[in-house]
Amino acid sequence: MAILEIQEATIKFGGLTAVNKVNMSINSGEIRALIGPNGAGKSTLFNAITGIHQVTSGQVFFKGQNITGLKPYQITGIGISRTFQNILLFEEMTVIENVMVGLHCRTKTETFEIILGLPGVKKEEKECREKSIELLEFVGLADKMNEKARNLPYGPKRLLEIARALASEPKVLLLDEPAAGMNYHEAEDLIKYVGKIRSRNITVMLVEHNMKVVMGISDHVTVLDHGEKIAEGVPSEIQSNEQVIEAYLGRGAH
Ligand SMILES: Nc1ncnc2c1ncn2[C@@H]1O[C@H](COP(=O)(O)OP(=O)(O)O)[C@@H](O)[C@H]1O
Ligand SMILES: [Mg+2]
Repeated sequence: MAILEIQEATIKFGGLTAVNKVNMSINSGEIRALIGPNGAGKSTLFNAITGIHQVTSGQVFFKGQNITGLKPYQITGIGISRTFQNILLFEEMTVIENVMVGLHCRTKTETFEIILGLPGVKKEEKECREKSIELLEFVGLADKMNEKARNLPYGPKRLLEIARALASEPKVLLLDEPAAGMNYHEAEDLIKYVGKIRSRNITVMLVEHNMKVVMGISDHVTVLDHGEKIAEGVPSEIQSNEQVIEAYLGRGAH
């Protein structure tokens, strides 16, 4: 069953068509890679799914529900979460605080209760901390929880952003170039973490240039070029697709 369905999505910026009539159907539980050259429209498509940009035409469905035009916080609320190509963390906050932000911990608590420090607040905060620690353990960052985010190396920063995205308990997680800037070992670890995320019943869609990561973990690969979908299939099909080799992989890349 498709958990995420994109129908004829077109996104224009003035005269530029960044995404052109793209159709995609992502099955529940799958890991889907979205690849293609720089400027192909991958991040723009993610932005349209998550409500940061509006589609010019076309529609997006989540579990059969039309979510086209919803605001980013509404998209997060229904169960779609993401990370960004350019890491977005609260650099001056600690590692654990960055995850707690993703939990929306205080939504149920009135502001005056927080100010008065009533017992209910303490309990809620404790639960938030415990949940955050569990997520940090999940990505192997629990021992860094009291460090400022800005002091983390690049790879761990990306994992922290993933932990924060998981805090909203998504059903679909969109990762925009999660291995960018990672060294070989960090990229190997990332493959492991993405597999672990799937085993939490989360569908993963990722934009990635590292072909080892893409081909190693994806069930299906969708290829964009100049805003258009030029190919889709299992990794082995994509690696031998002439049009994809021409547009993106290059000869000898597989
Ligand atoms: N906010 C924006 N305003 C205008 N043009 C944009 C905007 N975002 C992206 N674009 C353009 O849309 C095209 C697709 O960009 P993008 O989705 O970032 O590509 P990718 O993520 O595949 O590298 C590019 O030509 C880019 O310059
Ligand atoms: Mg991009």
